[in-house]
Amino acid sequence: MKIAIGSDHAAYEAKDRLKVFLASAGHQIVDVGTDSTESCDYPDYAAAVSRSVQSGAVDRGVLICGTGIGMSIAANRFSGVRAALCYTEELASLSRLHNDANVLCMGARTQSIDSMQSILKVWLNTDWEGDRHARRLGKIEMNSGGDNA
Ligand code: RB5
Repeated sequence: MKIAIGSDHAAYEAKDRLKVFLASAGHQIVDVGTDSTESCDYPDYAAAVSRSVQSGAVDRGVLICGTGIGMSIAANRFSGVRAALCYTEELASLSRLHNDANVLCMGARTQSIDSMQSILKVWLNTDWEGDRHARRLGKIEMNSGGDNA
């Protein structure tokens, strides 16, 4: 898969580790930054990854900040992006099965690298169930472009 990955300063080192993990699993990686541990603003990287997913330039996105919370809030402002903050393998699996999550958010200050790697692996290898969930995802898109815009 082609995967865009982004982080803020809090997760810069974790991003580097996850890139190695993804490359060794045969994925193609687009790193949108940040490029150091110097303080920066997570919405900038959430936007870069979200736009790549929106345009279809990549298949999926991965966003990491201190907690994953800011990244998930920021990414979910982009129409067509379904960002899921996952702290367990079960949540990662369900976010794919039911929600067709196309961006995975994690927290480098709240999760170990081992945990992030196993969550990422499950998330990348689980397919969406479709069926009744398609109607629900359609409603999410409808709401984001309609009265709530
Ligand atoms: C940065 O200090 C921190 O606020 C950020 O990484 C993230 O946890 C925000 O949700």
